[in-house]
Amino acid sequence: MKSTVRTIHVQTASADYPVFVGRGLFAEIPRRARIEAGRRIFVVTSPEIWSLWGQPFLAAFPQASAPIVLFLSPGERFKRLGEVERLAGELASAGADRSGLLIALGGGIVGDLGGFLAAIYMRGIEYVQVPTTLLAQVDSSVGGKTGANLVAGKNLIGSFHHPRAVFADIDVLQTLPERELRAGLFESIKAGVIRDAALFRFMEQNAAAVLCCEPEALERVITASIRMKAEVVGIDERESGLRMILNFGHTVGHAIEAATGYRALLHGEAIAWGMLAALQIAAARSTVTAAQAGRIERTILAYGPLPPFRATVEKLLDSAGRDKKNRAGKRRFVLPRGIGDAVVVEDVTDAELESAARWVLARAQAAGAAHSSR
Ligand SMILES: NC(=O)c1ccc[n+]([C@@H]2O[C@H](COP(=O)([O-])OP(=O)(O)OC[C@H]3O[C@@H](n4cnc5c(N)ncnc54)[C@H](O)[C@@H]3O)[C@@H](O)[C@H]2O)c1
Ligand SMILES: [Zn+2]
Repeated sequence: MKSTVRTIHVQTASADYPVFVGRGLFAEIPRRARIEAGRRIFVVTSPEIWSLWGQPFLAAFPQASAPIVLFLSPGERFKRLGEVERLAGELASAGADRSGLLIALGGGIVGDLGGFLAAIYMRGIEYVQVPTTLLAQVDSSVGGKTGANLVAGKNLIGSFHHPRAVFADIDVLQTLPERELRAGLFESIKAGVIRDAALFRFMEQNAAAVLCCEPEALERVITASIRMKAEVVGIDERESGLRMILNFGHTVGHAIEAATGYRALLHGEAIAWGMLAALQIAAARSTVTAAQAGRIERTILAYGPLPPFRATVEKLLDSAGRDKKNRAGKRRFVLPRGIGDAVVVEDVTDAELESAARWVLARAQAAGAAHSSR
């Protein structure tokens, strides 16, 4: 049975492009992305993803215009300028000019780095995103943020460069490790909490179906998450206002990632812990009721388990203070306002942050104890 393809349009001041969500989308890339016959195509991917999905991907293109494949090794440590330079060199050696089209086939790392390469190669070439992780489908492939890491921190270098089209193919998630799937779903819970109460309710009531990858359930979650992000990015492309709400859970989440050296947790897992911490502050300030906080917490845990981690309060506070989303020394914090709405505040006190950090560390330690007694 052929499933329907849903199309979400991202419309910003500088870009207008479709995001397709559905099954069996690889075969439709040339037609739906309106790739002109004879155009030279370059694919950036990782060896792992290519071994799983390279064949069906290649089958979409006529042999005469088979894409040239460039590889990026997996892992954050390869999301670096050096790799951008290496790949740019490979593009140049292969004769890529301004009319070349790049396709980023992979998770958020391939998408961010491939997009950045497209943004700066010959001052910018067009590219298409084919995200293969849930996180990349619901979050990183949409919105035009591309970049690389510096030693000083993640994503500290980059640019806004929107793709020509995005293909979120549910079929590719079949090979995604379950832990990666769960981690991405935390970003979808975030989407529901901050702006889409119906999405939240669906995830709250259908955790089993979503986690079993029932196609209709997954498709609904992915489509709604992308729609939410597209809407927010359409209103605030450069993150000068509304787009900041996407950082719910990210102040403490980024601090946890930094304090644990980016090794203990996947990004989505750190964000789940960060959302739980932010909920403590929101509940104490009554921007959510105890009942709403309880529902959000239970839903997050239903998509768990959240792996434990170890850090000190000092380290967490230090990292939270250095978050790049802070502006002019002010600490930005996103707090849910009920379910389906959120507010950005700048007056979270040191005491509030410390108490949330202590709470989350205690919970993480308890999770660790439960884990090791199993
Ligand atoms: N640009 C943005 O707006 C934005 C937003 C959120 C996150 N990000 C970035 O995204 C990155 C994280 O992305 P991610 O979570 O997708 O991680 P990732 O790209 O590292 O992918 C996770 C793992 O899954 C594997 N994988 C990918 N697709 C697979 C598939 N279909 N089957 C089997 N294995 C598969 C990868 O090889 C990798 O080992 C971070 O660098 C983060 O900074 C960017
Ligand atoms: Zn995130």
